[in-house]
Amino acid sequence: MKIIIANWKMNPVTEEEAVNLVGKIAAGASNIKEIETVITPPFVFLKSVLEKKGNLKVGAQDVFWENRGAYTGEVSPLQLKNLGVSYVIIGHSERRKWLGETDEVISKKVKATVENGLRAVLCVGEAKEIRNKGIDEAKKFVQEQLKKGLDGINKSYGTSLVVAYEPVWAISTFSGGKSDNPADAAEIISFIKKVLLSEFGISSPLVLYGGSVSGKNIADFAAHDSIDGFLVGSASLQEEEFLEMIKVVSSFL
Ligand code: PGA
Repeated sequence: MKIIIANWKMNPVTEEEAVNLVGKIAAGASNIKEIETVITPPFVFLKSVLEKKGNLKVGAQDVFWENRGAYTGEVSPLQLKNLGVSYVIIGHSERRKWLGETDEVISKKVKATVENGLRAVLCVGEAKEIRNKGIDEAKKFVQEQLKKGLDGINKSYGTSLVVAYEPVWAISTFSGGKSDNPADAAEIISFIKKVLLSEFGISSPLVLYGGSVSGKNIADFAAHDSIDGFLVGSASLQEEEFLEMIKVVSSFL
């Protein structure tokens, strides 16, 4: 199975725009069954997006690690589950950067998410200075992020876990739209799968690529079998481009 996740980040700004966008994506993707398409809107639009989702799945962009209690401003995995959400993005590099999220906090969120039966999408990826030292350094860094971020996870959670490899420098808003080289991304994704097997006993994990994926370059990534799908930021806000991307990926199946 391939997965395409639309990470809307802190967009759009009105409910009308959110409903309009999900409605168009749901209508355009209604015949595509082989791909799991997931929309992750801001929390405030989750309910209205769920109402218009058609065959799509809906995810949140973050979560807390307790199910209820005195945690001002937080949203729990149980609340998300009860709403009908099925995916949660965790440890996105923007949260690591702007909110100071640590691997320790991220591992608590991953564990709470999968224990509640939701699918956790753990984001990992190195900064430019690390990649500049070579792909082996990037692998080492990502391996550490996986070991720490998945602390306490074992193979019984394997099907609830998705990893998104997103080199920080490749995210469009950081880099001005420079994606990774598809062959390098595929190599690191294969390495991530090896680590998931050797460290956690997870034998067929789904590992996505993210970072400036667009209608122009998605075919070059989708041509690599090891890439199980995509985490798409800015291009997911353009319904025509996003639908085209879904079609391109389905043409590889
Ligand atoms: P981008 O964002 O596709 O705009 O590079 C990807 C992400 O941050 O998840």
